[in-house]
Amino acid sequence: MTEIIDICPLEEIPPGGRRIVEWEDLEIGIFNCDGELFAIEDRCSHDDGPLAEGELDTAKCTVECPRHGSVFDLRTGQPLTLPAYVPVDIFPVLVEDGLIKLEVD
Ligand code: FES
Repeated sequence: MTEIIDICPLEEIPPGGRRIVEWEDLEIGIFNCDGELFAIEDRCSHDDGPLAEGELDTAKCTVECPRHGSVFDLRTGQPLTLPAYVPVDIFPVLVEDGLIKLEVD
């Protein structure tokens, strides 16, 4: 069942910023790529690396896994480079009344 969870005020994740949140047994990284917000599961599909702690490229809208360097597209969750080849989960992000919200299921 889809659920909408409140995260934080928009200004707390400015362009280039990120926040890692927990929801049930998941950790989810929320990123602001030059004003657009994206959320991906904080667990690399290669070897469970802490993906949301990796280097963010706001121009390309990608994050690089700090463990073995796979680069993931934040828009789709698809890995763009090896060793990962399986996409990670992505989550819709909404902004309502200045509040960032996440759609999870
Ligand atoms: S755990 Fe992310 S590339 Fe290996």
